[in-house]
Amino acid sequence: MSTQKTILRALAGETLPTPPIWMMRQAGRYLPEYKATRAQAGDFLSLCYNPELAAEVTLQPIRRYGFDAAILFADILLLPQALGADLWFVTGEGPRLSTITTADELKALKPVSAIHDTLSPIYETVKILSRELPSETTLIGFAGAPWTVATYMIAGKGTPDQGPAHALKETDKAVFEGLLDIITEGTIDYLSMQIEAGAEVVKLFDSWAGSLKGDDFLNYSIKPMARIVAALKAKYPTTPIIAFPRGAGEKYVGLHAAIGADCIALDDGVTADWAADNVQTGGCVQGNLKSSHMVTGGDALVSETRRIVDALQNGPHIFNLGHGITPDADPENVQLMIDTVRKGQ
Ligand code: CP3
Repeated sequence: MSTQKTILRALAGETLPTPPIWMMRQAGRYLPEYKATRAQAGDFLSLCYNPELAAEVTLQPIRRYGFDAAILFADILLLPQALGADLWFVTGEGPRLSTITTADELKALKPVSAIHDTLSPIYETVKILSRELPSETTLIGFAGAPWTVATYMIAGKGTPDQGPAHALKETDKAVFEGLLDIITEGTIDYLSMQIEAGAEVVKLFDSWAGSLKGDDFLNYSIKPMARIVAALKAKYPTTPIIAFPRGAGEKYVGLHAAIGADCIALDDGVTADWAADNVQTGGCVQGNLKSSHMVTGGDALVSETRRIVDALQNGPHIFNLGHGITPDADPENVQLMIDTVRKGQ
């Protein structure tokens, strides 16, 4: 056994009697203490760039629930901002960015070496957390995968079908691929600094991987992630990496090897039984309870949680949701999920 921390044991391929647990967006608006600290910071971005307060909101769900991992409080859109894009959040609507769709706009981005000027408070948050987290809790750093980050940089906002990014891919492949390259290089440097500061695991969020079809999925979701993983593994061979190509469906098969990741995170679009036979055979999997159970609770939450734990019990598994918890979730349902997973421990 390489280590005592349960998340690191699962990531090393160990099958544990009880899967370790954490939850995407575990620090968030469903928690009153998060809302209070966010109000103290003023707004979401000020919270991200305030190391003391960002560390505080990262720790809140650990104190309340004793999750096995803490995920750094930040956002995947801080990297575009560090590369020179304007970024702001519209209440009730989500992120807005200045757009990159031409060669001139691409050229106007800052060099990757300049990102740390903007991102250094994030590394400070990681340092605070690695001092303050309980010894059994694993610290996870993260970044967006290049395709997902590019979809926001090209459209200037979230889009239901990622139409503007798909359009640029067809109309100006050079600009599209140039942008993916810059994001890929920036992500390698950003995650390297998170690891240097104390992140024990890093995760790549490819939230919009599911809209890439055929060769595009391989070329624009998987290959850029594989490049990031290879570069990080060359420098930090012992740091495990989780990849989350959300919406991959049947294409989840073989992704541990294709990406080089230690763990593949599953959304709720695949069943845990199917994943046990087709994905967990390649290594650790994470997931995949539907987040809406955190709103609705009750017997359905308990039975679905048990079904996932049972289905994935014969291999390495980290329990999580299939996507982030939503602001309308009931904090008591989170406790019910944790109690259900840990029952009989
Ligand atoms: O998981 C965690 O608790 C760690 C922190 C984290 C946030 N965003 C905080 C956040 C992480 C890992 C992310 C990732 C992220 N950000 C993704 C990938 C994962 C996913 O959800 O698919 C994406 C696509 C983003 C971009 C982003 N940030 C959007 C689209 C939004 C608006 C939607 C919303 O929920 O309001 C955000 C804002 C955001 N990021 C919030 C939080 C807690 C809510 C901001 C607030 O407090 O008002």
